Amino acid sequence: MPDMGLNGKVAIVTGAGSRADGIGNGRAAAILMAREGVRVALIDAVPANAEATKSMIAKEGNTSMVVECDVTDPKSCEAAVAKTVATWGRVDILVNNVGVGGTGGSAVDLDLDAWDRDLRINVTSMMLMARYSIPEMRKVNGGAIVNIASVAGLRGGHSGLMYPTSKGAVVNMTRAMAAHHGREGIRVNCIAPGMVYTPMVYSRGNGMSEELREARRKRSLLQTEGTGWDVGNGVLYLVSDMARWVTGVIHPVDAGATAGSADSPSPSPDKR
Ligand SMILES: NC(=O)c1ccc[n+]([C@@H]2O[C@H](COP(=O)([O-])OP(=O)(O)OC[C@H]3O[C@@H](n4cnc5c(N)ncnc54)[C@H](O)[C@@H]3O)[C@@H](O)[C@H]2O)c1
Repeated sequence: MPDMGLNGKVAIVTGAGSRADGIGNGRAAAILMAREGVRVALIDAVPANAEATKSMIAKEGNTSMVVECDVTDPKSCEAAVAKTVATWGRVDILVNNVGVGGTGGSAVDLDLDAWDRDLRINVTSMMLMARYSIPEMRKVNGGAIVNIASVAGLRGGHSGLMYPTSKGAVVNMTRAMAAHHGREGIRVNCIAPGMVYTPMVYSRGNGMSEELREARRKRSLLQTEGTGWDVGNGVLYLVSDMARWVTGVIHPVDAGATAGSADSPSPSPDKR
């Protein structure tokens, strides 16, 4: 029976900071991997955000470094991977976490420049980081990539068009990449988080009222609020040897949001 198989490995996590205090998805994934002995390159366009993650990891006696990088810029991505290899000699794991809610609106009224910008942040960035990380994974005969999508990429019903479109692209990019690189021992999987309570959500606009938090909780099949840790634990499983036979999978972490709604009828006796 395999163990996690993570001790001594090297990971890159994009968006490993959080945009406000608290635990975001990238931060949680980085901390959880570091606990298993992974050395983690904390990539962020805002180094101060990633420095906070680094301090949390150091407090637990684990290893990470901050690498400033804008994942929409190919040269910056290439340099971030090169810095990781120069420091620790290898890359085994890539967690493509950067993503933004981005521009709103329907096809009729959305802002075209913002649409192009946000698709680059949410989709192209993941391809770019894979482009420079996969050659390093080949050198160590394998690797694991986890792309962070969203349940918004699995169904309609979102107020904007850009976010579900971009996350749907991340979903199928995962399958296409898994098919390209499986023979090289590189597994590519995806986590589709539901509405977890993270800095990305509560630092936007006027934040989130207690009423809305409660309504979100009630809407979930498990009647429980999700956190960055729930997403991070999903990532931890997929990058570990526990998932050595798992690739091309879209794994919702959503308290059942893609399975049904809390309004579904309760089970009733057979009426034959
Ligand atoms: N929170 C939710 O409810 C939820 C739900 C579904 C999916 N997601 C997904 O989770 C991911 C984000 O999770 P998080 O909690 O870590 O988010 P976050 O908003 O806290 O962002 C993490 C970091 O990304 C950095 N970043 C932004 N643009 C960047 C760029 N171009 N280059 C490098 N770094 C950049 C920010 O500086 C920030 O420190 C996104 O892909 C998002 O779509 C979140």
